[in-house]
Amino acid sequence: MNVLPEKFVFPERTLIGTGRVMDLPAECARYGRRGLLAHGRSLAAHGILASLLKGLPSGMAVATWEHAGGEPALSDLDRLLEMARKHRADWIAGIGGGSVLDLAKACAGLFNAPQSSEVYHNGAAIETPGLAFAAVPTTAGTGSEATVNAVLTNTATRQKKSIRDDALMARLVILDPSLLQYCPRQVIAHAGMDAFTQALEAFTSRHAVWLSDCLGLKALTLIGAHLEAFYRGTDPVAAERVLMGSYLAGLSFAMARLGVVHGIAHPLGVLYHVPHGYVCGVCLPHAVELNREAMGGKYEQVSRALGRDLLEFIRHLLDELDMPSPFRGKPIMEKGTIIRDTVAAWSTKANPKTITPADVEWLLTRLFLP
Ligand SMILES: [Fe+2]
Repeated sequence: MNVLPEKFVFPERTLIGTGRVMDLPAECARYGRRGLLAHGRSLAAHGILASLLKGLPSGMAVATWEHAGGEPALSDLDRLLEMARKHRADWIAGIGGGSVLDLAKACAGLFNAPQSSEVYHNGAAIETPGLAFAAVPTTAGTGSEATVNAVLTNTATRQKKSIRDDALMARLVILDPSLLQYCPRQVIAHAGMDAFTQALEAFTSRHAVWLSDCLGLKALTLIGAHLEAFYRGTDPVAAERVLMGSYLAGLSFAMARLGVVHGIAHPLGVLYHVPHGYVCGVCLPHAVELNREAMGGKYEQVSRALGRDLLEFIRHLLDELDMPSPFRGKPIMEKGTIIRDTVAAWSTKANPKTITPADVEWLLTRLFLP
């Protein structure tokens, strides 16, 4: 196994601590005086947005944009881009869950790009440098603050895929656990299982290296040990631990990529309108069964780190987080499309076992079993 990949990109600066979100405007002043702040609904509802805007350094002009919610679409990105350009923004910040961060990230990356967002969503390289991007997660799960891709859905073609470019890496990340106190329990569960899946898929990826393994295994133990307590609200430090774990998982999979769970999660999520982390969580035990042989000694390594057999651990965690399969007993829609998209996915190509159409069909059968 290689120690490092051929190339990796990390965020330039990361600030960690309770209340650090309030440092965002002063930190962003280094990128320019005009900023655009994209955020989710809860930021305004809990008064954080008002406090931030009250504390702007003199001469700073910040426009705000609230994401209406739901999975981020190219049409959302186009509206955000239009606003950022009209405002003549020098930097873009995202404070929110994965959807808000992905939209803000893509907006910063494509700010000076000459073609339509759809062209880059279809894989074209970004020709022009973008703006500085600052990421402040308010959920612990997607790891978007640590990666160079923005997952967006083209609602016209129903294709959910990434705009991916090194230029999308955040210049600034702020990990403030106090922002997680407003996270709904269901989001804690879904996002937490997304992070756990990302850590495990990176750890068992065929592109894993020593550094991604260090990050991934630590992420698995942090999330594994604290997610249930975070969900139940029984331990005040649990949120911080899961937030750290989610960040490490993001850094890890940015380096090592993912696996078949993320390959199948996109088409299933789009077709059945199930949140990404929910799909990942319920797919994970079946994928682990499918991959068990190809994972080699890593299965035992993770089991030892978690203090329990990996498969048992995942099934127990899903029970504790009240995450039954949303697919159970339903008809499989557009099976051929799901199989084709899963086999072709960038994530699937990194799976430890080479995934065939028959493997995807087996996964679907297990997921949709009555
Ligand atoms: Fe994910």
